[in-house]
Amino acid sequence: MTKKTLLSGVKPTGRPHIGNYFGAMRQFVDMQDEYNAIYMIADYHALNFIQNKEELNQAIIDLTIDYLALGLDPKKSIIFKQSDVMEHTELAWIFDTITTMPYLERAHAYKDAEVKNKEISVGTFNYPMLMAADILLYDVDAVPVGQDQKQHVEYARDTAQKFNFIFGKEVFKLPESKILGEVAVVPGIDGQKMSKSYGNTIPLFATLDEITKAVMSIPTDSKPMNEPRNPEEDNVFKLHKLFSKSEDLFVLRERYEKGEIGHKESKEILIKNIDAFIAPLREKRDQIAHDIDYVLDVLKDGGKRAKAKAEKKMEAVREVIGVKLY
Ligand code: ADP
Ligand code: TRP
Repeated sequence: MTKKTLLSGVKPTGRPHIGNYFGAMRQFVDMQDEYNAIYMIADYHALNFIQNKEELNQAIIDLTIDYLALGLDPKKSIIFKQSDVMEHTELAWIFDTITTMPYLERAHAYKDAEVKNKEISVGTFNYPMLMAADILLYDVDAVPVGQDQKQHVEYARDTAQKFNFIFGKEVFKLPESKILGEVAVVPGIDGQKMSKSYGNTIPLFATLDEITKAVMSIPTDSKPMNEPRNPEEDNVFKLHKLFSKSEDLFVLRERYEKGEIGHKESKEILIKNIDAFIAPLREKRDQIAHDIDYVLDVLKDGGKRAKAKAEKKMEAVREVIGVKLY
């Protein structure tokens, strides 16, 4: 049986955090064997957020190192950056011409930005069309993303359908989102959803110091130590769930319910467990970061392989829309 194709992307806009890991990146590694996997560094999406040459350069390299440190293997998968394949922006333009403003105004990401922001860039408004192009160029079957990206994948599906209908040919395959993990939303150190934009993250490659600082700053209730506590209402316990073996979690839960554990001890256990999990990843990352030439070669090679596929698809697109004359 031929393997199915998968594509996912992450914006290079700062250090990934454990929410990104449990919500999305963790599964990227496992899926490499089952699928023809394509992992993209969404640098043109990031341009909506970072408009500084050095910062964007560094963010792209950092995310590539992160991908490699987590175990994405350039021999198995295509790892590339969006800007190396111009066809993405070309196709996004074509999609813009068949998409209406009210349709894009319904996107959650746009609505959220509108609530927070005074001035939204056209790039932010259009984001779903560039993301649709990212996906549809590669005849993708599955798009593994966290819950919050589901709507964007639906936009890609709708856009594929609309394009195929208008131009009367099945040029694009309809992708499915694949919502990842049992952990739909990882809480941040303030109890809200962990997110770079809330400044409540624990970075995925954090040092022990950073882990300690982050965990120690998690707000807790002021009940005295020996009073029973509902673990489900405790922000520290919510994170224990990600980092404890099931037997240990069981014991912890009981100690909470019997009032046998204080916040300090609970936090100390959490710090130890997070560090045990992160330390090997951190070491691998440090090793890879010493060989930037290798990292750049991975991107260059991935870019060529992605481009070959995207070029072929764009030929078909230009043909059916009627701009290809020779
Ligand atoms: P952020 O909110 O920090 O900017 P992104 O929007 O860049 O994160 O998300 C990158 C990926 O990580 C997406 O697939 C998203 O669904 C997932 N993700 C982000 N935050 C969380 C979270 N707190 N819990 C689960 N998944 C998350
Ligand atoms: N929009 C995604 C995010 O913010 C990143 C992304 C860009 C993406 N293009 C993609 C994800 C294509 C999956 C497929 O997380």
